[in-house]
Amino acid sequence: MTAAVRTRGLRKEFAMGWFRGRVLAVEALEMEVKPGEVFGLLGPNGSGKSTAMKMILGLLRPTSGEAEVCGYRAGTMAARRQIGFLPENPYFPNFLSGAELIRYYGKLSGMGGASLERRIRELLDLVRLGGEAGHRRLRTYSKGMLQRAGLAGALVGDPEILMLDEPTAGVDPAGSREIRDLILELKQRGKTVLFSSHLLEQVEDVADRVIILHRGQKLREGRLDELLTRKNEWEIKVEGLPENDRKEMRAWIEKRGARVVGEGAPRERLEDYFLRSLPEEKRR
Ligand SMILES: Nc1ncnc2c1ncn2[C@@H]1O[C@H](COP(=O)(O)OP(=O)(O)OP(=O)(O)O)[C@@H](O)[C@H]1O
Ligand SMILES: [Mg+2]
Repeated sequence: MTAAVRTRGLRKEFAMGWFRGRVLAVEALEMEVKPGEVFGLLGPNGSGKSTAMKMILGLLRPTSGEAEVCGYRAGTMAARRQIGFLPENPYFPNFLSGAELIRYYGKLSGMGGASLERRIRELLDLVRLGGEAGHRRLRTYSKGMLQRAGLAGALVGDPEILMLDEPTAGVDPAGSREIRDLILELKQRGKTVLFSSHLLEQVEDVADRVIILHRGQKLREGRLDELLTRKNEWEIKVEGLPENDRKEMRAWIEKRGARVVGEGAPRERLEDYFLRSLPEEKRR
């Protein structure tokens, strides 16, 4: 099967002027995203996530190495046509409405007429900007609404691959959860999603596989379920076990040479607690 995205020895150096030398932003990156996968590009600020994405998009030329999209060389028309892109901190002309923004993207990719108008309505509904919201100017949108409008724009040509550079940056937890759900919906429709994010709790919810970059180099790579499963540990959740029986259980465990490394009442994830604490209408 042709990979949705593949890079080989991808490298990018930025020249900073002759006396300040060079910045190595991405080094020898080998990466393969399979069709239908949700793939997370993780790493601290400045680790090369955006630079790698821009090379895959053909917006930046690699210093060496190569990137392919569905088998086409990155940057060619054929490759670009496969991708919808939501940049990091997107700038949108704020005098446009959400609908007009999507129309603008649609026209850029050669669409028009009744089919474009139908697509605009579909997308506004998909990103929950249907009705009045889609016709308001972007100036009046919240950060979450803006990101969703941008996402709708990226989806206009029904691309097979979505590349989202920090789609939830600056978005509140309810808004982030909506974007997360959208990513899952896209996956269900068979789309490939390559995204970067610092919100690891969310990454945990959506990503099939991740790469962790550090100073341009790949530090870790793998399926999340494999990376996060601690194979040498075993966890049993119990309800209604009295204190005395717990003592007995601990003794039983120790007798077998095992060690209790964690114990206690199960913990809720912060995201769930936070959202539960808000009044119902704020959660939407
Ligand atoms: N146009 C550029 N000119 C010079 N250096 C650059 C340029 N773009 C990126 N860099 C440098 O390349 C490195 C990687 O940057 P990049 O933006 O890819 O990181 P990132 O992982 O996306 O970070 P963040 O999480 O902050 O978005 C950084 O050291 C950055 O300063
Ligand atoms: Mg970035």
